[in-house]
Amino acid sequence: MKNNNDFVVTPYEVQGKVDYNKLMERFGTEPIDQALLERIRKHTGDLHFMLRRGTFFTHRDMNFILDEWEKGNKYYLYTGRGPSEDIHLGHLVPWIFTKWLQDKFKVKFIFQLTDDEKFLIEEKLSKEETYSFAIENACDVIALGFDHKNTEIIIDTDNAQTFYNIALPVAKKITYSTVKASFGFDNSINIGSVFYTSIQAVPAVLESVRQGKNIPCLIPHAIDQDPHFRLARDVLPRLGYYKPASIQCSFLPALGGPEGKMSASDPTQTVYVTDDPKTVEMKIKKHAFSGGQVSVAEHRKKGGDPDIDVSFQWLKILFEPDDKKIKTIEEDYRNGDMLTGELKAILIEKINTFLESHRSKREKARDQLDNYLVKD
Ligand code: TYM
Repeated sequence: MKNNNDFVVTPYEVQGKVDYNKLMERFGTEPIDQALLERIRKHTGDLHFMLRRGTFFTHRDMNFILDEWEKGNKYYLYTGRGPSEDIHLGHLVPWIFTKWLQDKFKVKFIFQLTDDEKFLIEEKLSKEETYSFAIENACDVIALGFDHKNTEIIIDTDNAQTFYNIALPVAKKITYSTVKASFGFDNSINIGSVFYTSIQAVPAVLESVRQGKNIPCLIPHAIDQDPHFRLARDVLPRLGYYKPASIQCSFLPALGGPEGKMSASDPTQTVYVTDDPKTVEMKIKKHAFSGGQVSVAEHRKKGGDPDIDVSFQWLKILFEPDDKKIKTIEEDYRNGDMLTGELKAILIEKINTFLESHRSKREKARDQLDNYLVKD
């Protein structure tokens, strides 16, 4: 780990045990407090379980978004994906939440697929491969049910002319040393990756450019993407635009441990949306880190620890929206009435039910791509 830090979070590296309070301080984001939750609830009627449980825990300028909303100025939503392989369950966290926001506020949504970014960053991937992952990943986004009348999916290389023209003035205001410090790059980085962050800034102003007036933009994402938008927030006002606002979540942990981020580098640590039921069962049974005791007798006596148990965390973050049910599971596990095997069985069933329906929706989505994809 660089600089002897206890943990590292950048868009390109997550290492160590992430302390989210410290991370908020380092990045300079605001906590989502009770007052903000109540302000959101005023407009949405209820709160998504990811807000109630603190999975979405930090933000930049949410109050600006709500101030403008209350004045009658609609915002739009923007989020994205770097298409380097199939989607894993962690990616669903910000997208399911974004869908909720779109349903509640009935606002426009732009989804960026950064095939250029992944071609530049991933040594082994060709342009054709990242483009083809972009199409596959687009099917996953459509499968989540975003309203096609209000949703655009943008693959960067299909929109090169629009994107390059907006990115250029952004790139002119960002120095190499800022990019190196923000993304942990060293001198061996290729020059395309240095330029790339200006491309990720484009959808944050795309509606303003199109409509010829400033439109507020809200970006839901996990906290690893914050460095991109920190730079965008610094530069865009100097070009006459609003600063993009954000609402940020913590990570769905990897199977092997509750500390960091589920990422794709190790398939035994990840469940993909394309995994079949047997593979899901095997991965959870074999690899999901348990907060249980070593023997059944000891577990009955001492109970398990749901706070470090990955199966429980996955249920809490993604798969069990019902507060009463999650509380019962938590209590039963903590006092030893529920065993690790029983907890894992609940999770396996939840994931497989979700994935079965998702897989059929993503196949149907292939025929709907033209309703969503935008091209120059
Ligand atoms: P990417 O493809 O790495 O991640 C896509 C989205 O998933 C979030 N994420 C996670 N969320 C919860 N738990 C996890 N374990 C987990 N792993 C990843 C990421 O924060 C992200 O929101 N450069 C971007 C693509 C992009 C983008 C954006 C992302 C372009 N424009 C705007 C967010 C917002 C990327 O490679 O994301």
